Amino acid sequence: MSERTLVLIKPDAVQRGLVGEVLNRFERKGLTIEAMTLRTMDAALADAHYAEHVTRDFYPPLKNFMTSGPLVALILSGDQAISVVRALTGATDGRVAAPGTIRGDLSLSNRENLVHASDSEDSAKREIALWFPGL
Ligand code: PPS
Repeated sequence: MSERTLVLIKPDAVQRGLVGEVLNRFERKGLTIEAMTLRTMDAALADAHYAEHVTRDFYPPLKNFMTSGPLVALILSGDQAISVVRALTGATDGRVAAPGTIRGDLSLSNRENLVHASDSEDSAKREIALWFPGL
């Protein structure tokens, strides 16, 4: 069943020149880019996007990092896109993410971990509405 999911290619990936590498992995898998924009997250968007994490200890450094520079936001679609993208992305912490995944191959951090991907249908709907109102 075709699904849509929201992906953020985080500021560390933009800074490191890895946007093409990350997009390439999604495209080679067969996912379709439905929308894409380069944008810097402001504080209000960070608080809305990470609403479920705003009270966590790790949120202040996460917010600081996510608002530190431009990121690439995109909608990907395809068969079971939500779980497929999460699998390609790998575990949150790049130090333990499996080799072959984006984080496992390219990140050594649980904060600077290159990619955010929606974790459920509800999150995908909510996050797509936040980043791409009307789509
Ligand atoms: S949880 O508890 O399972 O819901 O959280 P998790 O999915 O592991 O992480 C949620 C997002 O928080 C980021 N994160 C951190 N940022 C900064 N510092 C620390 N220590 C930290 N730990 C987790 C993590 O990268 C996740 O970001 P997103 O954008 O959702 O991938």
